[in-house]
Amino acid sequence: MKLSRVAAVGALAAIALYSTTLQSSVADNATTERHQAPSLDQPLRDLANRSDLRIGTAVDFDALNADTPYRERIASEFSSITAENVMKWQLVEPTRGQLDFSAADQLVDFAKHNGQKVRGHTLLWHNQLPTWLTDGVTAGTITPAELRGILRQHIFDEVSHFKGKLYQWDVVNENDYNVEGVSAKSDAYYNLVKDLLRQHVPVDGFAAQGHYGVQFGFHTAAQVAANLKRFEDLGLETSLTEVDVRMLLPVDNPKLQAQAQGYSVLLQGCLLSKRCTSFTVWGFTDKYSWVPGFFDGQGAACLLDENLAAKPAYDELRAILALAARR
Ligand code: G3I
Repeated sequence: MKLSRVAAVGALAAIALYSTTLQSSVADNATTERHQAPSLDQPLRDLANRSDLRIGTAVDFDALNADTPYRERIASEFSSITAENVMKWQLVEPTRGQLDFSAADQLVDFAKHNGQKVRGHTLLWHNQLPTWLTDGVTAGTITPAELRGILRQHIFDEVSHFKGKLYQWDVVNENDYNVEGVSAKSDAYYNLVKDLLRQHVPVDGFAAQGHYGVQFGFHTAAQVAANLKRFEDLGLETSLTEVDVRMLLPVDNPKLQAQAQGYSVLLQGCLLSKRCTSFTVWGFTDKYSWVPGFFDGQGAACLLDENLAAKPAYDELRAILALAARR
């Protein structure tokens, strides 16, 4: 997507895209918990509260309904959830003009019931668009001018429906991969944000996804923190929104240790940053991970295996959170 188009979308949607309630999104009992000794037996959400950090996972809606251990683990382990798919345009408006938020609403209800916050995902993305939209644009029956209006309507439909129920929205998704550290791409993003702010577009947050692979290596925590800090210096909050660390199969112990390192640098980079408010993994169990379906011969990207057994990465995150208690 061209950056100019991103800017235009930001401007169109500016008034409603971002919640201003982020500061109140931390658990009320966070202060109390910070002063108690941490225990490594505590779930991630309790440990993360000690650092005023929302720890989240993407949620597979079908599994949420069908798989009780999966559902219970989400409730006990995380303080934030993201709809992996059910808030995407393709799913909320499969037929033009007929909105269906039923699955997304169930997800929001689940979160409320479990004292969790919800991230909105995603207002604009090049994937999972309704067929009526992509076909119409391809056939020329939807003109560029009309497309602009349709996009505006879609954004307002989503943000109006969920008004007051979400604490963050991924506004423009997938311009945000490979931007965990300082690089030419994150430089471009940084310059875009500065430009948008100069135009008084209310950009409230910058997030990096965090899809790592053991075979590629990782940034250092300091590199991640340095990148986030420069966006925070512009007045933005920051987040890690889709963390997972895949590997070439089969799994072995060295890869699992390396995987733990990948998760670790992203969490530490976030915790070293003053305004990194949420850290979300893109699925927490290999049972439902998107990775094997998209990368041949790769997988095992999550904190827990298919049987919900913890990997070294999970223990590593708990150890970091137990020690951090960021303030
Ligand atoms: O729901 C249908 C089902 O009815 C059908 O039988 C089945 C047949 O393949 O497909 C199902 O839909 C799949 C959907 O996930 C739900 O499982 C789609 O084919 C599949 O393409 C879709 O994949 C999602 C992917 O985005 C689409 O590109 C993944 O679950 C989701 O994890 C992934 O998430 C994206 C983020 O939204 C944006 N950033 C990258 C990230 C990873 O690609």
